Amino acid sequence: MKYKLLKRKFHSDLWIAIFAVTFGLHAVQNIHHSDSSFYRPKSPSKCVYCYKEDYILMCHIVAQATARTATAVRMLANTSGMSHAKCRSEFYARTNNTVRRFPVPLGKVNWEVPYPEYKPTHYTSEHVLKSPPWADKEDLASAGYNWNDMDNGVNRRSYLGQYKLDDEGHPLNPIGRTGVQGRGCLGRWGPNHAADPIVTKWKRDSQGHQVLGPDDLPILQCVLILRGDCNEWALPGGMVDPGENVSKTLQREFLEEAMDSCSEEEISKIKHFFESEGAEIYKGYVDDPRNTDNSWMETYAMNFHDHDGSVFEKIQLQFGDDAVGVKWKDLTKDLKLYASHSEFIDILLDLHINSKYL
Ligand code: BGC
Repeated sequence: MKYKLLKRKFHSDLWIAIFAVTFGLHAVQNIHHSDSSFYRPKSPSKCVYCYKEDYILMCHIVAQATARTATAVRMLANTSGMSHAKCRSEFYARTNNTVRRFPVPLGKVNWEVPYPEYKPTHYTSEHVLKSPPWADKEDLASAGYNWNDMDNGVNRRSYLGQYKLDDEGHPLNPIGRTGVQGRGCLGRWGPNHAADPIVTKWKRDSQGHQVLGPDDLPILQCVLILRGDCNEWALPGGMVDPGENVSKTLQREFLEEAMDSCSEEEISKIKHFFESEGAEIYKGYVDDPRNTDNSWMETYAMNFHDHDGSVFEKIQLQFGDDAVGVKWKDLTKDLKLYASHSEFIDILLDLHINSKYL
């Protein structure tokens, strides 16, 4: 009996091994014969298929495949939500440390985990309570909002799927507890939708040649703005207006925050650039310091890459709107940015550098 089981296991393992070897050789052959961008080593090297002993080249391919898988897994994970730390910090954002969040240990974030002592602080800013045009009404009973759906141009759907309502009909943060109840300084109950343009180019010298970093890899640069509300560097994103298409928001926010007072010619160049380029980097929940148990930020982040540097060659960045600074920033893994923006940069680096050059 034991022998039979072992034999069956050996056969199944054998099939897996045959499949892996066939698939591996097929992939290597395709990399060699198709001149695709999948494989681009840093320095010219011998081809695996012709010189099978070229171990270094093989390592490049394996590392590249691993980086690609990591990016894919990360992007998959991203749709289900990011970390939940900034929205559990001691004080609620923009209150001069006057509104303290009820402490939520990591193990008590999930609504399913009982937390009988949980008494979240109630906070909705004075400004939001006055119901400006971008905010909902405080009294839900009379408002009749269409949760989990489009509602008169307002997108009340979450990228994470259907969210629940509490006993009084308030939307519940899909990731879990934050220590604050109400809307804080966010206008909408439930998801508040934003969009983040990630505009990138390769760093070049005055002759237009790509500059390499200490690790011999090209340096990716991205447009960042300094936020006036918290003095943190961030992507030049903003809120999606009711009835506005997200692709319009991406363009509008970039022009307002990073290219204030630019010429008509520059505006049309940027519009064309945004319409012809674009790769989705992230869509989902954001670990924003303004999140509460009933209101939270979600965003759609898209990368627009100026491959040869020609689009931004003569364009001077100029901050505007809520921004108090703007610059092209060399990207590294350890950048500290507003909300979840550093995590978007990690995905971006995987996409442009790690999966191509490592
Ligand atoms: C910002 C976006 C950010 C979003 C979520 C918005 O206010 O403009 O850049 O991604 O909040 O944090």
